[in-house]
Amino acid sequence: MDKIEKTVNNNEIKIYINSNLENTINYELGKYNDNVSFIIKNLKKNYKEKLQRINSNKIYMNDGEKIKSNLYFNNIIKKLLSMGIERDGVISYFGGGTLGDLIGYVSSVYKRGIDLIAVPTTLLSQVDSSIGGKNAINFMDVKNVVGSFHNPKIIFDDIDFLLNSDINLLKDGMAEVIKMALICDGQFFEYLDNNDLNTMYNPEALKNIIYKSVNLKLDIVSKDFYDLKKLRYLLNFGHSIGHAIESYTDNKIPHGVAVANGMIVESYIAYKSGYSKKLYDIIKNTVTKYKIDLINFNTVEVEKLISYMKNDKKMEKNVLNMVMLNDIGKSDIMKIDLNSIRRYLKLYMDERK
Ligand SMILES: NC(=O)c1ccc[n+]([C@@H]2O[C@H](COP(=O)([O-])OP(=O)(O)OC[C@H]3O[C@@H](n4cnc5c(N)ncnc54)[C@H](O)[C@@H]3O)[C@@H](O)[C@H]2O)c1
Repeated sequence: MDKIEKTVNNNEIKIYINSNLENTINYELGKYNDNVSFIIKNLKKNYKEKLQRINSNKIYMNDGEKIKSNLYFNNIIKKLLSMGIERDGVISYFGGGTLGDLIGYVSSVYKRGIDLIAVPTTLLSQVDSSIGGKNAINFMDVKNVVGSFHNPKIIFDDIDFLLNSDINLLKDGMAEVIKMALICDGQFFEYLDNNDLNTMYNPEALKNIIYKSVNLKLDIVSKDFYDLKKLRYLLNFGHSIGHAIESYTDNKIPHGVAVANGMIVESYIAYKSGYSKKLYDIIKNTVTKYKIDLINFNTVEVEKLISYMKNDKKMEKNVLNMVMLNDIGKSDIMKIDLNSIRRYLKLYMDERK
C-alpha cells in the first residue's frame, strides 16, 4: 500500500507514500554522480533535521506563484551550469506545486532533459501537481503558458511534511482530493463525505487518501498523457471558474480554495442548465464540511471574472467546454455559451445578497 509502480507514457514511475522516507530518497539520489536538490526555505523551520539527513547539494529558495517565471528559470539554469551538472545527473525538489512546476520544467529542458526526483511537500502537490508530468511557468501574467510534459522518475510522498503543516494547506489539498472522488469514484467520495478534516491527522487514513487519489489521477493520465482524448480534461472540474478566481484575485486565493469554489459555482451553473440540484447541494456540503473557505461573491465583478474566462483554453468561440457531473463519480463535458454563464453567475451572486 505504500508504493505504487505504474507505466505512464512509456516511463516507469515509482511513488512512495509513507513517513521517514529519507533513507529511500538517499538510496535513489546516490545512484547518480551529479545530484542537486532545490528546497523551499519554508521547510527549514520545521524540518531542519529531516533535511539534514538528505545527502545532496542543497539549494534553498523562495516559492509561490512568483517563482514560476523566466527570471527564476534563468537563474536555475545558470546555477546548474555553474555547478557543472551533467545530463546523466538528477535534479530533485522539496516543495509544493509552484516549485514542482518550475523545477519540472527546468528538468525537461536542461541539456534536453535530465532525471527528476520529486518530493512534494503539500497535500495538493502530493495528490495532484506532481502526478501526470505537466509542468509550467507563467508568462506575462498568463498562467502555465510555457511548459512541457516530463514525468519524474520517482515521487516521494512523505507524509511527515503534511502532519506538521498548516491546516489551511491540508484544506487546500483536500479540494483536489474531493474533486478526484467527484469526477471518478463514488465510493471514495462516500468515504470522504463520512469523514472530516480530523481524519487528516490520522497517518494511516492520510496515507490511504493520498494512495487512492494518486491512483485515480494516474489512471486518467496514463490513458491520456498528452491531454488529447478529453479524458484528462475531466480533471478540470471546478477549474474554469477556479482559474478565473485565481487570476481575479492575483493568486491571493490559493489554488485548492479557488477550485473548491469553482466546483460549487460550476455545479450551480450545471443545475441551472437542467442538471441535478442535489449534486450542487452535496458538493457545497462536502466543501463546507472540510472547512474550505467559501468565497464571498458579493463584491465580485461578473464582467471581470468573465474576462479571465475568455483566456481559458477550455473556451472555444465563446463556448465553454465545462466539466460537470451526471452523478457522483460520473463526469462529462457540457457546452455552455458565455451569455448563459454570465446570466447564471449573476443569479448565483444575487441569491447570496
Ligand atoms: N502541474 C500540475 O499538474 C498542477 C496541478 C495542480 C496545481 N498546479 C500548480 O501548483 C501550484 C500550487 O501548489 P501548492 O498549493 O503546493 O502551492 P505552493 O507551492 O505555493 O505552496 C503553498 C505554501 O505552502 C508552503 N509549504 C510547502 N510545503 C510546506 C510544508 N510541508 N509545511 C509548511 N509549509 C509548506 C509554501 O512555502 C507555500 O507558502 C500552482 O502554481 C498550480 O498552478 C500544478
